[in-house]
Amino acid sequence: MNAFFSSNETIILPCDSKGIEKAVQLIRGGYPVGLPTETVYGLAADAFSGEAVARIYQAKGRPSFNPLIIHIAHIEQAAEIVEFNDEALSLAQKFWPGALTMVLPLKKDAKIASIVTAGLDTVAIRMPSHPVMRQVIKAFGHPLAAPSANKSGSISPTTALHVKESLNGKIAAVLDGGIADKGLESTIIYIGADEIKLLRPGPITSEELAQSSHLPITEYKADGQNPVAPGQLVSHYAPSQPVRLNISQKEADEWLIGFGDIAGDDNLSPSGDLTEAAAHLFSALHRGEKSAYPRIAIAPIPLEGIGKAINDRLGRAAAPRDEQNTSQR
Ligand code: TXA
Ligand code: MG
Repeated sequence: MNAFFSSNETIILPCDSKGIEKAVQLIRGGYPVGLPTETVYGLAADAFSGEAVARIYQAKGRPSFNPLIIHIAHIEQAAEIVEFNDEALSLAQKFWPGALTMVLPLKKDAKIASIVTAGLDTVAIRMPSHPVMRQVIKAFGHPLAAPSANKSGSISPTTALHVKESLNGKIAAVLDGGIADKGLESTIIYIGADEIKLLRPGPITSEELAQSSHLPITEYKADGQNPVAPGQLVSHYAPSQPVRLNISQKEADEWLIGFGDIAGDDNLSPSGDLTEAAAHLFSALHRGEKSAYPRIAIAPIPLEGIGKAINDRLGRAAAPRDEQNTSQR
């Protein structure tokens, strides 16, 4: 399939110095590689190379109008790409490295390939905390563009095996850094002059953001027709079967994903812990998808803290899937 690998199988690289070296070598050669982050696995390529980034879109089967997140290893790398105002800098100091993505104005002389931003004059950027991801960015020396490492429109991967199952033969390799422990994509915010817009709820909650900023946090509601974050289309994170939400009693043809006291065929967190539920969500959806059941049902999840992000993902998994709604990620 490329100069490095002759087979059509995606290789799972062990997370040792050889594996990391191989991943960096592939990225240098312009080939996207699946990499672990603390949120979900990313499909990473050189953010300065349009050709390398185009291969991400190709492997995911993703429409190219959807811009990607740039991953950096230290703040100086970010300062070469985006304009920080005081608010952005203070949030970076508070939440980086970690699961907060900020949409910031792109610097005029930034070397980011325009395919990364889909031609926008802003760019989404974050500093991941996963040690393996940081090691790869440092060894490579440039920022990496990386969306979640799954086929466009399907469930995000939280293990190397999920990546292989979704993209086998489409990418050369995935580096196995264990389970992505947050289990949900990063929180995305846009910092306006007098408000912070929450574009995508995630592991950093709006309550935590509110505690660290004097600006009000406004929740952006996607209507699917006019998305501010182009990735905010309604149907997302979807298993192949139809999904019903807020179900306590399943029907005979349903695979029930439980929570707390609602046991189910699977359970996001028997003790009712929302952070644990977030970490298990995508794995549970993968298991439901692989089950023999034609429909998936999901127990009610409280709408508080990270429960908001879980419900956001579930709403997308259950949304009707017409042409307008899908075709993203
Ligand atoms: O946790 C994460 O964020 C994972 C890991 C791999 O880091 N990445 C991820 O990337 O979820 P992706 O490409 O699946 O989601 C990127 C989101 C999309 O919804 C996209 O529309 C939005 O970021 N986005 C990117 N650039 C933007 C911009 N300039 N303005 C508004 N939204 C933007
Ligand atoms: Mg994604």
